[in-house]
Amino acid sequence: MQLKAFLAATAAQLVTAQELMRFGCSQLTFDRIDPLVNPGSLPSPHMHQLIGGNSLNVSMPPVEHDPPTKSTCTSCTYSEDFSNYWTANVYFRARNNTFKKVPLVTNLGLRVKGGMTVYYIRGYQSSAKVTAFKPGFRMLVGDPNNRDASKVPPGLCFRCEANMEQNPFGGAPCTGSDTKYFPKSTCGGGWRVTVTFPTCWDGKNVDTPDHKSHVTYPARGTFESGGACPSTHPVKIPQVMYEVMFDTRQFNNKAEWPADGSQPFYWSHGDNTGYGIHGDYVFGWKGDALQRAMDSKCAGDNCRALQRQSDAQAIACTKSQFAHEDIGENSWLPTLPGDPAIF
Ligand SMILES: *[C@@H]1O[C@H](CO)[C@@H](O)[C@H](O)[C@H]1NC(C)=O
Ligand SMILES: *[C@@H]1O[C@H](CO)[C@@H](O)[C@H](O)[C@H]1NC(C)=O
Repeated sequence: MQLKAFLAATAAQLVTAQELMRFGCSQLTFDRIDPLVNPGSLPSPHMHQLIGGNSLNVSMPPVEHDPPTKSTCTSCTYSEDFSNYWTANVYFRARNNTFKKVPLVTNLGLRVKGGMTVYYIRGYQSSAKVTAFKPGFRMLVGDPNNRDASKVPPGLCFRCEANMEQNPFGGAPCTGSDTKYFPKSTCGGGWRVTVTFPTCWDGKNVDTPDHKSHVTYPARGTFESGGACPSTHPVKIPQVMYEVMFDTRQFNNKAEWPADGSQPFYWSHGDNTGYGIHGDYVFGWKGDALQRAMDSKCAGDNCRALQRQSDAQAIACTKSQFAHEDIGENSWLPTLPGDPAIF
């Protein structure tokens, strides 16, 4: 068996054992918009990489803006998923102080163009009831202004991959040698960045002013260990997790790294520690599709309880930029887009 096929099979086994739905979403757009944290701001302070339904807009008021009715396509494999998922993107800063966007690559076993891998994890105990998100639900995890390792939430981390086959596999996210800061050495297989959201909901609010307070973590133990949700946030929701594969290989020439040994990679919000890692989620599954998927213990990207589109159809769903500007894909930029403060 080819090494790659073997690894994909291993990943698939992991998927089944842990009751996790894992699927690819191709790149919808790169844009300086943030309909969750900065609705109406065009451009928003920093660049994002966004995937999902094409009803994505500068402003998406909860409930009023209904992604399944407003979208005509989605870049995600499951065609009933018009949610939007986004994170900041990463830039490499050369010695001459210009910036270039770090490209994304496809995760093992998936066929997408750029984009991310999305997980909805039921839990590790098959008996536990999991309640799908309600229309209008959205949340934020992490903080672009954070520069403190101890304030990075659990389940957000970086893995320096030795090779593109992700071999050795490295175990569960944010275990082993995964870090809360950007990898400090060159990585032969780029980076795997994991962003995991809280799993307990207050049962009432689809959003809160900080986009965080309506969700939290189990009171004792963890989601992974089957820890129960606290009484303030009693409803167990699916664990949403993103994996983003950054192909840093073209920037592995140490002669182009800063002479003082400092980190040459930056989040689009001006952070070269990595601690500002964050992710945004705007729920947009059609009807009861997500609940059906959870109840059916869907695994992988080909669940029979859900409608799946072809990979080519998902890849074909893209959106043009709202904030028309050079994103540094094919050229070196004098500043990060929007010139956020570097700290
Ligand atoms: C985005 O929202 C604006 C304001 O509601 C609306 O006029 C416009 O049609 C929307 N654009 C897209 C591409 O959906
Ligand atoms: C800056 O450095 C990059 C990477 O070495 C190089 O490709 C680019 O041409 C340089 N730009 C200028 C203006 O020197």
